[in-house]
Amino acid sequence: MLATADRDDPLAVLRGERRWAVVHGDGPEVLRTLPDASVDAVITDPPYAREFTPLYEQIAAELPRVLKRGGSFLAIVPHHSLPEVLAGVGQHLKYRWTLCMWQEQGNHPRMAMGIEVVWKPIVWWVNGAWPVGRGFIRDGFTNAPPEKAHHKWEQSLSWAHYCLRFVPNGGVVVDPLMGSGTIGVACVEHGFRFIGIEREHGPMLTARRRLSARRAGR
Ligand SMILES: C[S@@+](CC[C@H](N)C(=O)[O-])C[C@H]1O[C@@H](n2cnc3c(N)ncnc32)[C@H](O)[C@@H]1O
Repeated sequence: MLATADRDDPLAVLRGERRWAVVHGDGPEVLRTLPDASVDAVITDPPYAREFTPLYEQIAAELPRVLKRGGSFLAIVPHHSLPEVLAGVGQHLKYRWTLCMWQEQGNHPRMAMGIEVVWKPIVWWVNGAWPVGRGFIRDGFTNAPPEKAHHKWEQSLSWAHYCLRFVPNGGVVVDPLMGSGTIGVACVEHGFRFIGIEREHGPMLTARRRLSARRAGR
């Protein structure tokens, strides 16, 4: 059973009655409760450990129904999981591109398998066809070092701002593994509607605090 208060009802966001909602629950499970063709983009940053690799496909399995046609799924994918994630998600959505998050600064693991790691892949899939006439989008950006002030795995707002370029103005964005809600903060700043889902109570409360503060202009 989801611990969803009325003020955090995702359906209120979809009806345009609220700008954002934060749900305490399991990402794929909550996605299953959203109506058909109701979401413009799912943008997320799953935990890096290999045990979380199946989450990508569990999320993607819901998206042909929940995403609008032409809607996007953007996820940071660890290099070590790329083959498995591309195969799994590719069963549900159309692979479009791999985007480069250049990141030489920060506390992330810098060395792996004899490789100095200077970038992370963000993989972009679409539901059906990407709409024509949206112009060009650069396939990379330089990520600012994340503050890690709100979550031990927090991403920077520059990541969130970049990913929102793939969403139509004012669209509905879902982060089913929201952490401290960085994508939501960028959504509120830029006029997108946001539904965030997080299974851990502490980060969920942090996200709610961050979003409330933004709404109040603090
Ligand atoms: C890498 S963190 C996201 C950090 C976020 N981008 C930020 O800037 O704060 C991933 C989050 O996914 C959450 N998580 C893992 N499995 C989940 C699930 N099945 N449903 C919901 N949340 C989940 C973890 O608790 C963690 O907070």
